[in-house]
Amino acid sequence: MQLKKTINVHDDVAEIIFNEQQIQERVKELALKISNDYIGKQVTLVPILKGAAIFFGDLLKNITIPISLDFMMVSSYKNTLSSGFVCVELDLRETAENKNILIVEDIIDTGITVDCVYERIKLQKPKSIKICSLLDKPSRRRKIINIDYFGFEVQDKFVVGYGADFNEIYRNLPYISVLKNEIYEEKEF
Ligand code: PRP
Repeated sequence: MQLKKTINVHDDVAEIIFNEQQIQERVKELALKISNDYIGKQVTLVPILKGAAIFFGDLLKNITIPISLDFMMVSSYKNTLSSGFVCVELDLRETAENKNILIVEDIIDTGITVDCVYERIKLQKPKSIKICSLLDKPSRRRKIINIDYFGFEVQDKFVVGYGADFNEIYRNLPYISVLKNEIYEEKEF
Protein backbone atom coordinates (compact mmCIF):
# COMPACT_ATOMS: atom_id res chain seq x y z
CA MET A 1 0.00 0.00 0.00
CA GLN A 2 1.29 3.45 -0.88
CA LEU A 3 1.07 5.61 2.25
CA LYS A 4 0.34 9.30 2.02
CA LYS A 5 3.39 11.53 2.47
CA THR A 6 2.63 14.68 4.44
CA ILE A 7 4.23 17.83 3.02
CA ASN A 8 2.41 20.46 5.06
CA VAL A 9 1.07 19.33 8.44
CA HIS A 10 -1.78 21.85 8.27
CA ASP A 11 -3.20 19.98 5.25
CA ASP A 12 -3.94 16.92 7.40
CA VAL A 13 -6.12 18.85 9.86
CA ALA A 14 -9.88 18.24 9.76
CA GLU A 15 -10.93 20.56 12.58
CA ILE A 16 -9.35 23.14 14.87
CA ILE A 17 -10.67 22.64 18.41
CA PHE A 18 -8.79 25.49 20.14
CA ASN A 19 -7.05 28.14 18.08
CA GLU A 20 -3.82 29.98 18.89
CA GLN A 21 -5.52 32.98 20.44
CA GLN A 22 -7.76 30.88 22.68
CA ILE A 23 -4.76 28.88 23.84
CA GLN A 24 -2.57 31.92 24.53
CA GLU A 25 -5.34 33.63 26.53
CA ARG A 26 -5.96 30.54 28.63
CA VAL A 27 -2.24 29.96 29.19
CA LYS A 28 -1.94 33.52 30.53
CA GLU A 29 -4.84 32.93 32.92
CA LEU A 30 -3.28 29.71 34.19
CA ALA A 31 0.12 31.38 34.62
CA LEU A 32 -1.45 34.22 36.61
CA LYS A 33 -3.24 31.79 38.91
CA ILE A 34 -0.07 29.76 39.42
CA SER A 35 1.95 32.94 40.10
CA ASN A 36 -0.59 34.02 42.74
CA ASP A 37 -0.92 30.60 44.38
CA TYR A 38 2.82 30.14 44.80
CA ILE A 39 3.76 33.66 45.91
CA GLY A 40 6.52 33.43 48.52
CA LYS A 41 7.01 29.70 47.90
CA GLN A 42 9.75 27.91 45.98
CA VAL A 43 8.16 25.90 43.17
CA THR A 44 9.73 23.46 40.74
CA LEU A 45 7.92 22.98 37.44
CA VAL A 46 8.27 19.51 35.91
CA PRO A 47 7.03 19.23 32.32
CA ILE A 48 6.33 15.71 31.10
CA LEU A 49 8.09 15.51 27.75
CA LYS A 50 7.63 15.38 24.98
CA GLY A 51 3.98 16.39 24.79
CA ALA A 52 4.12 19.18 27.38
CA ALA A 53 7.06 20.99 25.76
CA ILE A 54 5.19 23.70 23.86
CA PHE A 55 2.59 24.42 26.55
CA PHE A 56 5.34 24.47 29.16
CA GLY A 57 7.37 27.01 27.19
CA ASP A 58 4.44 29.41 26.91
CA LEU A 59 3.31 28.87 30.51
CA LEU A 60 6.80 29.55 31.80
CA LYS A 61 7.08 32.88 29.99
CA ASN A 62 3.88 34.09 31.64
CA ILE A 63 4.69 33.04 35.21
CA THR A 64 5.99 36.01 37.18
CA ILE A 65 7.37 34.41 40.38
CA PRO A 66 10.84 32.83 40.70
CA ILE A 67 10.70 29.15 39.72
CA SER A 68 13.00 26.17 39.25
CA LEU A 69 12.79 23.57 36.48
CA ASP A 70 13.33 19.87 36.20
CA PHE A 71 12.25 17.47 33.45
CA MET A 72 10.78 14.04 32.95
CA MET A 73 10.19 12.23 29.68
CA VAL A 74 7.67 9.41 29.67
CA SER A 75 5.62 7.71 26.97
CA SER A 76 2.77 5.23 26.77
CA TYR A 77 1.03 5.73 23.41
CA LYS A 78 1.22 3.73 20.20
CA ASN A 79 -0.87 5.21 17.37
CA THR A 80 -4.04 6.46 19.10
CA LEU A 81 -4.09 3.93 21.96
CA SER A 82 -2.62 3.99 25.43
CA SER A 83 -0.51 0.89 25.97
CA GLY A 84 -1.41 1.10 29.66
CA PHE A 85 2.30 0.94 30.48
CA VAL A 86 4.35 4.03 31.18
CA CYS A 87 7.97 4.04 30.09
CA VAL A 88 10.12 6.54 32.00
CA GLU A 89 12.75 7.64 29.49
CA LEU A 90 14.19 10.55 31.48
CA ASP A 91 13.88 10.99 35.23
CA LEU A 92 14.26 14.05 37.49
CA ARG A 93 17.84 15.27 37.77
CA GLU A 94 17.33 16.88 41.19
CA THR A 95 15.63 15.38 44.22
CA ALA A 96 12.01 16.44 44.79
CA GLU A 97 12.44 16.08 48.56
CA ASN A 98 10.90 18.97 50.49
CA LYS A 99 10.05 20.89 47.30
CA ASN A 100 6.77 22.19 45.91
CA ILE A 101 6.44 20.29 42.63
CA LEU A 102 4.11 21.32 39.82
CA ILE A 103 3.74 18.63 37.15
CA VAL A 104 2.95 20.11 33.71
CA GLU A 105 1.15 17.99 31.10
CA ASP A 106 -0.33 18.69 27.69
CA ILE A 107 -3.23 16.28 28.18
CA ILE A 108 -4.64 13.97 30.82
CA ASP A 109 -6.61 11.24 29.11
CA THR A 110 -6.75 7.84 30.85
CA GLY A 111 -4.68 9.44 33.63
CA ILE A 112 -2.26 6.50 33.63
CA THR A 113 0.77 8.64 32.73
CA VAL A 114 0.27 11.41 35.25
CA ASP A 115 -0.70 8.93 37.97
CA CYS A 116 2.57 7.08 37.41
CA VAL A 117 4.59 10.31 37.44
CA TYR A 118 2.79 11.60 40.55
CA GLU A 119 3.38 8.38 42.51
CA ARG A 120 7.02 8.27 41.41
CA ILE A 121 7.70 11.83 42.56
CA LYS A 122 5.75 11.27 45.79
CA LEU A 123 8.27 8.60 46.81
CA GLN A 124 10.84 11.40 47.14
CA LYS A 125 8.72 13.12 49.82
CA PRO A 126 8.13 16.55 48.27
CA LYS A 127 6.47 19.26 50.36
CA SER A 128 3.58 19.37 47.85
CA ILE A 129 2.69 18.06 44.38
CA LYS A 130 0.16 19.71 42.09
CA ILE A 131 -0.85 18.98 38.52
CA CYS A 132 -1.33 21.43 35.64
CA SER A 133 -2.58 20.21 32.25
CA LEU A 134 -3.61 22.23 29.23
CA LEU A 135 -6.21 19.62 28.27
CA ASP A 136 -8.45 17.38 30.32
CA LYS A 137 -10.26 14.48 28.65
CA PRO A 138 -12.33 13.05 31.53
CA SER A 139 -14.42 10.69 29.40
CA ARG A 140 -11.65 8.08 29.17
CA ARG A 141 -10.26 8.35 32.68
CA ARG A 142 -9.00 5.13 34.29
CA LYS A 143 -7.34 6.73 37.33
CA ILE A 144 -8.78 9.27 39.74
CA ILE A 145 -6.75 12.43 39.15
CA ASN A 146 -7.13 15.79 40.86
CA ILE A 147 -6.08 18.37 38.26
CA ASP A 148 -5.23 21.59 40.10
CA TYR A 149 -4.95 23.74 36.95
CA PHE A 150 -6.37 22.86 33.54
CA GLY A 151 -6.93 24.84 30.40
CA PHE A 152 -9.74 23.17 28.47
CA GLU A 153 -11.90 20.07 28.64
CA VAL A 154 -11.88 18.03 25.42
CA GLN A 155 -14.32 15.49 24.06
CA ASP A 156 -13.31 11.92 23.33
CA LYS A 157 -11.41 12.70 20.14
CA PHE A 158 -7.72 12.07 19.44
CA VAL A 159 -6.30 15.58 19.38
CA VAL A 160 -2.92 16.75 18.09
CA GLY A 161 -0.92 19.97 17.96
CA TYR A 162 0.64 22.39 20.43
CA GLY A 163 2.92 19.55 21.58
CA ALA A 164 0.53 16.62 21.20
CA ASP A 165 1.43 14.11 18.50
CA PHE A 166 0.13 11.30 16.35
CA ASN A 167 2.96 8.86 15.73
CA GLU A 168 5.42 11.62 16.72
CA ILE A 169 4.15 14.03 14.02
CA TYR A 170 2.01 17.19 14.30
CA ARG A 171 3.51 18.52 17.58
CA ASN A 172 4.40 21.73 15.71
CA LEU A 173 0.82 22.66 14.85
CA PRO A 174 0.22 25.90 16.81
CA TYR A 175 -3.37 24.90 17.66
CA ILE A 176 -5.23 21.91 19.11
CA SER A 177 -6.91 19.97 16.33
CA VAL A 178 -8.31 16.72 15.03
CA LEU A 179 -6.80 15.11 11.95
CA LYS A 180 -8.61 13.79 8.91
CA ASN A 181 -9.81 10.20 9.43
CA GLU A 182 -7.56 8.84 6.69
CA ILE A 183 -4.48 9.99 8.62
CA TYR A 184 -5.40 8.01 11.73
CA GLU A 185 -6.15 4.99 9.58
CA GLU A 186 -2.63 4.91 8.14
CA LYS A 187 -0.41 2.79 10.36
CA GLU A 188 3.01 3.90 9.16
CA PHE A 189 4.71 7.12 8.18
C1 PRP B 1 0.75 11.68 25.97
C2 PRP B 1 0.61 12.99 26.70
C3 PRP B 1 0.46 12.57 28.15
C4 PRP B 1 -0.21 11.21 28.05
C5 PRP B 1 -1.67 11.34 28.42
O1 PRP B 1 2.07 11.24 26.05
O2 PRP B 1 1.72 13.83 26.49
O3 PRP B 1 1.73 12.44 28.78
O4 PRP B 1 -0.10 10.79 26.67
O5 PRP B 1 -2.34 10.12 28.26
P1 PRP B 1 -2.88 9.26 29.45
O6 PRP B 1 -3.58 10.16 30.41
O7 PRP B 1 -3.85 8.30 28.77
O8 PRP B 1 -1.75 8.52 30.08
P2 PRP B 1 2.68 10.08 25.10
O9 PRP B 1 2.70 8.77 25.84
O10 PRP B 1 1.98 10.08 23.79
O11 PRP B 1 4.18 10.57 24.94
P3 PRP B 1 4.67 12.02 24.45
O12 PRP B 1 4.48 12.96 25.62
O13 PRP B 1 6.10 11.83 24.12
O14 PRP B 1 3.82 12.41 23.27
